Amino acid sequence: MSALFSPLRQRGLTLRNRLAVSPMCQYSARDGMPAHWHLVHLGSRAVGGAAVVIAEASAVLPEGRISPEDTGIWNAAQAEAWAPVAAFVRAQGAVPAIQLAHAGRKASTFAPWRGHGAVAADAGGWTVVAPSALAYDDAYPQPQALDAAGIARVVSAFHDAAVRALEAGFELVEIHAAHGYLLHQFLSPLSNRRDDAYGGGFEGRTRLVLEVIDAVREVWPDSLPLWLRISATDWVDGGWDVAQSVELARLAAARGVDLVDASSGGLSPRQAITLGPGYQVPFAARIRREAGVATGAVGLITTPQQAERIVAGGDADVVLLARELLRDPYFPYHAAKALGAEIDAPAQYLRAW
Ligand SMILES: Cc1cc2nc3c(=O)[nH]c(=O)nc-3n(C[C@H](O)[C@H](O)[C@H](O)COP(=O)(O)O)c2cc1C
Repeated sequence: MSALFSPLRQRGLTLRNRLAVSPMCQYSARDGMPAHWHLVHLGSRAVGGAAVVIAEASAVLPEGRISPEDTGIWNAAQAEAWAPVAAFVRAQGAVPAIQLAHAGRKASTFAPWRGHGAVAADAGGWTVVAPSALAYDDAYPQPQALDAAGIARVVSAFHDAAVRALEAGFELVEIHAAHGYLLHQFLSPLSNRRDDAYGGGFEGRTRLVLEVIDAVREVWPDSLPLWLRISATDWVDGGWDVAQSVELARLAAARGVDLVDASSGGLSPRQAITLGPGYQVPFAARIRREAGVATGAVGLITTPQQAERIVAGGDADVVLLARELLRDPYFPYHAAKALGAEIDAPAQYLRAW
């Protein structure tokens, strides 16, 4: 029996296996609107057999886009444009999911193949916001520190985005609190130098994330799962670290988060990452063990045996794949074959299976 291909119950949903498509920006939207590319890209991976297909970091406010080409879910037209994507993914037996995001001081930057750093105002860029007026680095935009009204606007934007995600037909929401984007900027003492209720010690720095979780859970049905992606460590001395992540995971789970997706880094150009196969798996394992919450493992997981070991060994409940699924949308079929597991192919493709 393969652990990777065993189903997983999350609230009212049953995931058909433990493989999820990690959210991946496609830098292919105009005015935040998902288009044909998103339908085909996400749809292919649902056809490919993944259990959960998470649409890319989608901005809850226009100024929260990483690049001008990011998708959004800050208005009704975007929600309508997402609806066929969610419906198609669901029709393939996968759970349609969306990552809700705000890029904070890492907003208004170039899509990777268009350039690096800040997009100027006359080229479609905008003023960016952050917990404190500290830029990511010299090439990035200089942010304005959010005031109390600005913070309240962010919380209600996540709330409203969750309402729209539900209307669009998504069945799972992931809150993006990783990779140095706005919520992570509040968590880390390196980027959060506030002296009000949203800064200072652990309680102040985690306040915004917990308020966002509450705001989303208020409208996200009890029958549907809510995931939280965090960077378990900044990989910088004196930054956000795994012990704080465990504590946050405990608080998040108590507030209705059903899985902590354990990534890392992205907050500081000073990060010193030790890269290697499955290098972030120990974070998922520790959070799962110490916080007693389901976790997702992600990062340089590329083989069926590696993914199987992660789930079978109790390091994580779900394995999220990004680049391997770009190379091979049919990874789940190939993995099932390699592990001798049963998997349902689409009826249209049965003659090839
Ligand atoms: C093209 C691309 C876009 C990405 N966009 C996002 C994103 O929107 N949200 C996010 O949390 N991570 C994003 N990531 C990170 C991936 O979700 C994943 O965590 C990372 O690539 C490590 O997994 P891998 O080794 O399987 O690629 C992106 C990665 C890639 C390659």
